Amino acid sequence: MRILVAGGAGYIGSHTCVALLEAGHTVIVADNLCNSKAETLDKVKQITDKDVTFYKVDVTDEAAVDSIFATHQIDGVIHFAGLKAVGESVEKPLAYYYNNLVSTIVLSKACLKYGVRKFVFSSSATVYGENEVPFVETMDLLPTTNPYGETKAISERMLTDAAKSKSEFSVSLLRYFNPVGAHESGLIGEAPTGIPNNLMPYVTQVAKGKLGKLRVFGNDYPTIDGTGVRDYIHVMDLAEGHVVALDKLTSGVHIYNLGTGQGTSVLQLVQAFGEANGIEVPYEIVDRRPGDIAECYADASKAKRELGWTAERDLLDMCRDAWRFEKGYV
Ligand code: NAD
Ligand code: UD1
Repeated sequence: MRILVAGGAGYIGSHTCVALLEAGHTVIVADNLCNSKAETLDKVKQITDKDVTFYKVDVTDEAAVDSIFATHQIDGVIHFAGLKAVGESVEKPLAYYYNNLVSTIVLSKACLKYGVRKFVFSSSATVYGENEVPFVETMDLLPTTNPYGETKAISERMLTDAAKSKSEFSVSLLRYFNPVGAHESGLIGEAPTGIPNNLMPYVTQVAKGKLGKLRVFGNDYPTIDGTGVRDYIHVMDLAEGHVVALDKLTSGVHIYNLGTGQGTSVLQLVQAFGEANGIEVPYEIVDRRPGDIAECYADASKAKRELGWTAERDLLDMCRDAWRFEKGYV
């Protein structure tokens, strides 16, 4: 299939381009590079020995998007082109609503206009809010605590309504848990600008000596060791989940959790990182981070049952691959 990957130069998008190319698909990337670099796509080509067509385009720009659809006979769209920093979304809510909602509208409108049947959307476990773990796709969604989360919940509803209005238009809403790690080559990975907000990039930067010590946000949660529990998933497993979701997408709206189903605490992750890489990461316990929940992990059985997909790489793989990328990144 010929797949338009919006946001394909970013962290999850670039790994998904690799998985798509390896599965024999043709890849067209549209990315405005607001949080990525074009060189990442050169690395994708290097890994796969295949070509990628790239448009430096803002996918909220309807005319620019229309011209891509008019030029290529696209069979499916994967929409990664979102802003994703939770804290920033509280400071700049309108920028987040504009970018994340208008991009979804523009891309799905173009699909309806050009008869593109398959649309895969990057949603997030954040839409579950403070539900009981494990999170299951059938749960009623609870309000999220920030504009970023709201953009995911609203996009899910918009796409569901669009699919209802046109039976040929099929949508897969993929709710990611915590993507970490990097491609096994170490050529592409997660390279946040500034001080990382998320745990794994913070840990790798402490290991590298770029940051002093990890601050563990709270050890008084009702969890195995008091620290927050999350469902970390290797980014290549996540990427491969997109390929399967796209291949198997039939009419209607399909929601899938993409997680491992396993919860890991902050201290367990620090320990796994030490075991995988032989590096002890210094840490201190500090206050809880506002807005954090105690536990977040998936019921991953629906994706297994319906798509035949399960995450295959374990926590040690995630730690090893994240570190390999960080070591080589300048
Ligand atoms: P990322 O920032 O690395 O990638 C997003 C890409 O989209 C970047 O290359 C950026 O330049 C591009 N982009 C953003 N707005 C654009 C626009 N208007 N037009 C064109 N390009 C645009 O982020 P990521 O971690 O790869 O996340 C991809 C998607 O998955 C996002 O929608 C994010 O909200 C979602 N998601 C991410 C996580 C996570 O932990 N990384 C978890 C759940 C959901
Ligand atoms: C964050 C986002 C969430 C998003 C998810 C996946 C926030 C508030 N939430 O959540 O919306 O869906 O990433 O991208 O940003 N931790 C530390 N020290 C650190 C960093 C994190 O102890 O320096 C802890 C956190 O308290 C948490 C765990 O590590 O318990 C994971 O944190 P993080 O990687 O930021 O992911 P989420 O909290 O799941």
